[in-house]
Amino acid sequence: MTDLARYTVSMDARLLDRFDELIGRKGYANRSEAIRDLIRGALVEERWAADNAKVAATVTLVYGHHAHGVQEHLGHIQHHHHAEVVSSTHVHLDNDNCLEVIIIRGRSRTVRTLAEELIATKGVKHGKAVFTTEGNELY
Ligand code: NI
Repeated sequence: MTDLARYTVSMDARLLDRFDELIGRKGYANRSEAIRDLIRGALVEERWAADNAKVAATVTLVYGHHAHGVQEHLGHIQHHHHAEVVSSTHVHLDNDNCLEVIIIRGRSRTVRTLAEELIATKGVKHGKAVFTTEGNELY
């Protein structure tokens, strides 16, 4: 880590106790690493608040293999957004269910709309997007 800065934070001792319990459960080695992650999370959220920021996301979908037209519709959406869709992986979970993970990047408004469109597709049993960034501003 370059240009390491140190700082002091004042807070209610009970709040700090709760924080220490939380980060202990989550497996952080120390407060500094936990606080860095909180700050990075806030910066990612801030980035997504802007319509035109360069961002990245993953979309995880579970859908029925036999559900009529789902796979075709998901494929159609991805072809339409070929500039944003970086990669997709399809796993046949069992005889009936498929899991697909789609990696997308682009401008925040487009990426969010695309993720929502994929998740809202009829026949998708569960869909979840993780909205992140390209990482340059996070250090
Ligand atoms: Ni499948």
